[in-house]
Amino acid sequence: MDRYFLEHLTQLGEVQSVRAFEDIKSAQGIKLIARGTEINRSHLERLLQHKLLKPIDNSLIIADQLSVTQLKYYALKSLDDSPNLRLLIHGLSDISMIMDYFSSLLLSRFLANKMTIMQKCLPNQFTHSLWVALMNLLIGNICRMSLTDMHYLASIGLFHDLGTLHIDPHIFDESKCLSFMQWKQVYAHPIIGCLILKEQQELPPAISRAVLEHHERIDGSGYPRQLKAPHLSRLGRITAIAETIMGISRKGSCEYLITILKSDINKLDKEIVELLCHAFYQINLIGLAGRIHHTFSPVPMNEMKQTLKMAETISLIFVGWDSLLNEGLQQNFDQLINTIDDLHHILDRAGISVLDTTTSVRQYEQDLPAFIEASMLLRETIYHLNRIIRITSRSMIDQSISYPGLTDWLQNSLQRLTLFNEYS
Ligand SMILES: [Fe+2]
Ligand SMILES: [Fe+2]
Repeated sequence: MDRYFLEHLTQLGEVQSVRAFEDIKSAQGIKLIARGTEINRSHLERLLQHKLLKPIDNSLIIADQLSVTQLKYYALKSLDDSPNLRLLIHGLSDISMIMDYFSSLLLSRFLANKMTIMQKCLPNQFTHSLWVALMNLLIGNICRMSLTDMHYLASIGLFHDLGTLHIDPHIFDESKCLSFMQWKQVYAHPIIGCLILKEQQELPPAISRAVLEHHERIDGSGYPRQLKAPHLSRLGRITAIAETIMGISRKGSCEYLITILKSDINKLDKEIVELLCHAFYQINLIGLAGRIHHTFSPVPMNEMKQTLKMAETISLIFVGWDSLLNEGLQQNFDQLINTIDDLHHILDRAGISVLDTTTSVRQYEQDLPAFIEASMLLRETIYHLNRIIRITSRSMIDQSISYPGLTDWLQNSLQRLTLFNEYS
């Protein structure tokens, strides 16, 4: 059953009116909630016990439901929390033109319900969706996409993470390492989002398709279907870039944009990335960021301590990996080998030695901007290591594969990642 979504919904019913405007019935036709009832937490268990005849939000009216005008207002307001996104939009486009694309959003009552629940129950996710919509429009504008595609890009950005309303909200707690089951939910969210949008007759298939593709990567290393370049739509590729830019920093910061794009150069649409980098150079983004931030100020001690711990964890994992390779990893672990290889190259290109990351970090002791860039890359590395190690461990258990050297490395690495997680 859709526990997480029902929890959001009934929780929202505690603070504002969530009313059934028609009877809510089970798949067998049993009336579970009568028309006119105000939904709250007391209905949760009853709803969870049954498969519903139709999605519950088809039968609800939520008070203060978001309108297109309000979404437009919140999108504009979201720029207050991301001055760098504001800087980019002002430097590369026309804010009123960008905001105009919001006016044509096709917002059914069903989708307005979803966005309202997201705003109230997952506010960070809501802001992230607004940012991705804005970034989508900015990229679309730079790529000179057609008027129709620009309208689509606004909807895609706004709705791209609707699937997250239906997964465990603890997944968004960035201080915790995700379990294998939680990763499975993360992988499912583009599929859930796509299915929700497919049900909306008024939305063209290009929108649900791009939502399904927003975590895919052109080299096939993304999810949920590991599709490669020829199978990905241009709208999906744009959204993957917008998601990467706005998602990586989790705070919407754009000042390290070029680093972010470069670190994923093999995974994102090269042509679009080149157009973007060209545009960023044109407005002298690096110069701007440099003037604002590049003051060669020393790194705060706490930040340095935490990043050194992260660097040490990564080095130990890579040292173990190297000796595992020297012993000969003969079985077929392509996904693991490719991911570790990729991480190795990304760090290499950034001038960070994987076998001695701590020395690499210490060189930035007096250079805060460079330190932040290095720290961001290391955090991404931890994220990807955690993901691939958990997936490999789980699939070895599922397929009853035993490979002592690899099993030891996986266990040791998991322990190190858990220790780092507890430390931070
Ligand atoms: Fe997202
Ligand atoms: Fe997503």
